[in-house]
Amino acid sequence: MGLKKDEFGVQHSARVQFKASAFSGKDGPVPVRNPGRKELVPKIVASNVDAQLIFSRLHGSSKGDVRISVERVEFVDDERSRIGRSKEVASKFMALAVLTTIKYGTHVVVHVGAHMAETDQVAGPADRLAAMNLSDSVQNHAFSDRVLILSIVGRPDGGAGLAGQRVRAGGWVKTGREQGKGTFAFLELNDGSCPANLQVIVDAGVAVLSKLVATGTCVVVDGILKVPPEGAKQRIELRVESVVHIGEVDPAKYPIPKTKLTLEFLRDHLHLRSRTNTIAAIARIRNALAFATHSFFQEHHFLYVHTPIITTSDCEGAGEMFQVTTLISEAEKLEKDLIKNPPPSESDIETARQLVSERGAAVKQLKDAKASKADISASVMELNKVKESLSKLEERSKLKPGIPQKDGKIDYTQDFFARQAFLTVSGQLQVETYACAVSNVYTFGPTFRAEQSHTSRHLAEFWMVEPEIAFADLQDDMNCAEAYVKYMCNWLLEKCLDDMEFMAKNYDKGCIDRLRMVALTPFVRISYTEAVELLEEAVKGGKKFENAVEWGIDLASEHERYLTEVKFQKPVIVYNYPKGIKAFYMRLNDDLKTVAAMDVLVPKVGELIGGSQREERYEVIRERITEMGLPLEPYEWYLDLRRYGTVKHCGFGLGFERMILFATGIDNIRDVIPFPRYPGRADL
Ligand code: 4AD
Ligand code: MG
Repeated sequence: MGLKKDEFGVQHSARVQFKASAFSGKDGPVPVRNPGRKELVPKIVASNVDAQLIFSRLHGSSKGDVRISVERVEFVDDERSRIGRSKEVASKFMALAVLTTIKYGTHVVVHVGAHMAETDQVAGPADRLAAMNLSDSVQNHAFSDRVLILSIVGRPDGGAGLAGQRVRAGGWVKTGREQGKGTFAFLELNDGSCPANLQVIVDAGVAVLSKLVATGTCVVVDGILKVPPEGAKQRIELRVESVVHIGEVDPAKYPIPKTKLTLEFLRDHLHLRSRTNTIAAIARIRNALAFATHSFFQEHHFLYVHTPIITTSDCEGAGEMFQVTTLISEAEKLEKDLIKNPPPSESDIETARQLVSERGAAVKQLKDAKASKADISASVMELNKVKESLSKLEERSKLKPGIPQKDGKIDYTQDFFARQAFLTVSGQLQVETYACAVSNVYTFGPTFRAEQSHTSRHLAEFWMVEPEIAFADLQDDMNCAEAYVKYMCNWLLEKCLDDMEFMAKNYDKGCIDRLRMVALTPFVRISYTEAVELLEEAVKGGKKFENAVEWGIDLASEHERYLTEVKFQKPVIVYNYPKGIKAFYMRLNDDLKTVAAMDVLVPKVGELIGGSQREERYEVIRERITEMGLPLEPYEWYLDLRRYGTVKHCGFGLGFERMILFATGIDNIRDVIPFPRYPGRADL
């Protein structure tokens, strides 16, 4: 299909494709092998395909609200002959395809998509940048006296349009080197606002260069933005006029030098690892996913409810809870105190008792002798004083080291909450109280599990997103989960592509394609029974699992990953699990053997989401609690939701770190949460 100029004017989201074919050059535009339709001259400069040029050649101008994206790049003649990675950047004017190095003379075919920029998606930073006037002057950050590096290099023109402007920039030096025999220095400055660095050039006359160049140094500089000489990688650089601040680093001691460090090594330096490109990119992706989460649920009229961190109910009934108690610290305090001030001996108390009776006798004597009021009251005061010290001594003599006990058990009535309390494993039970009143709710917060899991998919403290929907059943639950996961994938593609590119380049080649695939492909939905049949078939076909497969087992991670990664190669929702392996609150199906549960399994991770329709029938849920050997009393409040005004409802929990693993392709969950907690480790 050819690209017609006026299509953009009339068709909403018109989408066209065309091919441009060219030979890569050393630099600048190169001769073209024109496929015949249009005058397309992709400029391939070192490793960039400049789609702005494609676009302007195509239209003769760069006007119009059209989004150009380089969708695919093929190397035709190259011996590698493969599809290169491509980067989509929504922009009025251009898109860049960052290619792995292209050899001179390589025949390159660029597939370009163009469509209207006005889709019904929320405008992202790229759109906003595209919408801004490139001749605008760059503004300081609203709450600090310097310009964000994003505001310079994150512009569609890479900052070129800002040449000549005077700015203040600050950041940490990624790489610094003295050049020209020490007459000037290049600094790659990053302030975390985007993955790209700002190139800064400082002359020796302006500052002591050796103080600036060490990796990790913090610098704030004033200078003028300039377009670098032809052939440079950057589109803009900052020529420094004065150095405002230097936070020096001793390179001999700095624990995070420039060399490539393993993620494992960085786990031992949690307080500094955010200075690395990887951890900063993960932080931005995590932030984007949190924003996407609120955006998705808010758009669908869900109320954000804060459920308690400290709870007295065990939601999953699995007994994997961290206890919250002050009994231990109180006991320790007392122990120390008793060593410092030993409790009174029997004879101390006896002496004190004698003193009381002596003083009592003295008072009596004075009263009998009808002594003056003043004398009597002075004597009574003396008596009260000794009585008080006696009672203090008696009180202290009762103090026993250790945790208070009653009837051979720990006496929790003396604990902080006068009962046992724990860190929550899930906010579900509490959020249900709001779902059964205001209908659509979600909670998003930290949850804690004291399981001895040393896997790359488990944390002792992780964040969970838990929506709960009233007037909804298992189908609605699955629909919501699928829509939410897709929404997050689209969000990252739309708003976090720079960081995703970084992940694709350094950690997981396929991560961007995976996001696209998940955003576009309907999830497979199979019942647990069908899943077991498929696994049994696989075993018959020679597939070896460590855990035997039969109806009734809890699917192990290897089974889940086989289904999603091998069998279907896309997200799979497994529903209707045997009741014996699922929590008490899940709705019993009519077969009386299975419950209306669902797990969303995704490639790379396995279980991403666990959810269910909730049992709303009072008698049935009562029976289920008892059947599972749980006490009824602590769940009475939960049963009230069924006793009074019960409603069909459902919900799920998405493991937030697992979503980040899935998105980024990072292997270990300990690297996608800022401060990981797992057996044996809780740094900072
Ligand atoms: O399947 P789970 O245990 O479900 C619940 O807690 C329900 N109360 C949720 C609900 O219906 N509102 O946990 C939900 C998700 C899992 O699918 C997994 O992604 C994640 O939480 N998860 C963990 N993530 C990291 N470390 C752990 N130890 C995790 N345990 C569960
Ligand atoms: Mg689960």
